[in-house]
Formats: sequence, C-alpha cells, structure tokens
Amino acid sequence: MDVALEGDGLDPRRMPRHVACVMDGNGRWATKRGLPRTEGHRAGEEALLDATKGAVELGLEWFTVYAFSTENWRRPHEEVRFLLGVIADDLLTRRRDELHGLGVRIRFAGRRDWRVPKWILRRMDETVELTRHNKGTTLTVAFNYGGRAEIVDAARALVASGIPAAKVDERALRRHFYLPDMPDPDLFIRTSGEYRISNFLLWEIAYSELVFLDVLWPDFRREHLRQAVREYQRRERRFGRTGEQRDQEGLPS
Ligand code: FPP
Repeated sequence: MDVALEGDGLDPRRMPRHVACVMDGNGRWATKRGLPRTEGHRAGEEALLDATKGAVELGLEWFTVYAFSTENWRRPHEEVRFLLGVIADDLLTRRRDELHGLGVRIRFAGRRDWRVPKWILRRMDETVELTRHNKGTTLTVAFNYGGRAEIVDAARALVASGIPAAKVDERALRRHFYLPDMPDPDLFIRTSGEYRISNFLLWEIAYSELVFLDVLWPDFRREHLRQAVREYQRRERRFGRTGEQRDQEGLPS
C-alpha cells in the first residue's frame, strides 16, 4: 500500500504506465501578462520540471511531452530560436544533471535528419547516454516530432528493409517508430482548454484516455498531473474493465 498515493485519492494499483502531455498555452499565458511569448516558454520549462518531479513521485514509468512539433518551424524566427535555446541550454544543460540525480532517463522522439542543428543533436545524444541506465521515470521529449511524420518515416524504413508486402502488419511498422520500445500512452493530457491532438502520437494514442485541463501550461504543477490521473482512474473504473475482471482483481466498482 502506498499511503502517499492513497491519501491523495489515487489508487496505486491502477496507475497509468505511460502519460503523454501536450504542453499548450505558453503564448497565451505570456500575452495575458503583457509579456513576450518567449517568457511563456521560459515559465513552461519550470512547469515541465515540476511535472516531471510529479511523475517521479507517482512512480510513472513513462512521461512523454510535446516540446516542439514539425509544424513549429513555421513560428516567427525569434520564437523558434528561443525554443531551441530553451531545449539546448535549459533542458540539456542546466536541468539535465538535476533530472539525472532524480533517476530520470531522458530520451527524444522526432525527426533527426531534418532541420535540427547538429550541435543540438550532439547534446541530446550526450543526455541520452548520461541517463541511459537510470531506473526511474523515462522522460521522452518529443522534439521536431509529428505523428504523421513518424508514420511516414516508419513506412519508409519498412520499405527500405525490403519486407514483403504480405509481412507488413502493425508490429512490423511499429518496429520502425522513433522509440519502438515505448508503450502506448494510457493517459493523454492536453492543457489550455483546447480539445485537439495536434499531430501528437497519432498512432500510439489509439486507445488512450484523453483528459483536457483548463490550465495554461506555465501554471501546470504536479498537482494537475495527479488531478488528471484521478480522472483517468474514474474513467477506468466505469469503462475500462468488465465487472468480472474487477472482482478477480479485487478492485472497487
Ligand atoms: C505550446 O504553447 C507550447 C509549445 C509549442 C512549446 C512547449 C515548450 C515548452 C513547455 C518549453 C519547455 C520545453 C522543453 C522541452 C525545454 P503555445 O506557444 O502554442 O501557446 P499558445 O497556444 O497560447 O499560443
């Protein structure tokens, strides 16, 4: 029994294994305060750190966040530069050791051979290497990521592998995703009150529970993560299992 979780209304036996999150609302958070959009991203980076600590406390195996999409290159040049800087200087330099100290294994998902500066790829690789053997939560940062791009890239690799058409199935395609060993998310969260997927993990969220929170990402804290998990557990109780399974596992109805 995990007293900390139960005291918070969470059922430790029904924790999601993988939570994915669209960190939306940085721009609006900043605009509301009369600040440049980039300040929203800076505050968003703080929120990400707190959320990741929350994921570690909850004992989540996988926590995946959408940091930069294949479509985000269309943003103003200054904002793109800033976001790359936040990722390179904050996440990959300043925060890296702190996350490493928490036992977080850091990984990246996205297109590597398109537009991403080489020096950022190098720092990403160093970070992955540094944290490779950590046994805590795996934080996957989706960077230069698009769900459709991932499927297209996997299809290309599959064709290049020379597989006969009759052997192509879901498992064969999945083997060519950016992170083939990553399980599908159980819970998908989007902040900022928008109800969209925005090309995030399109294939992987086929059966995920979707939770939309009315909080702008920079205001997101670990408590919001817990709130989303509570919502997930309520839904699972109602729809996730048959009564028979529930009785067998001794879960509350
Ligand atoms: C969406 O808000 C957010 C992004 C496109 C970037 C997310 C990046 C961070 C949270 C920064 C920290 C991340 C890392 C990995 C260091 P938006 O700009 O679309 O906001 P809006 O919808 O209000 O305009």
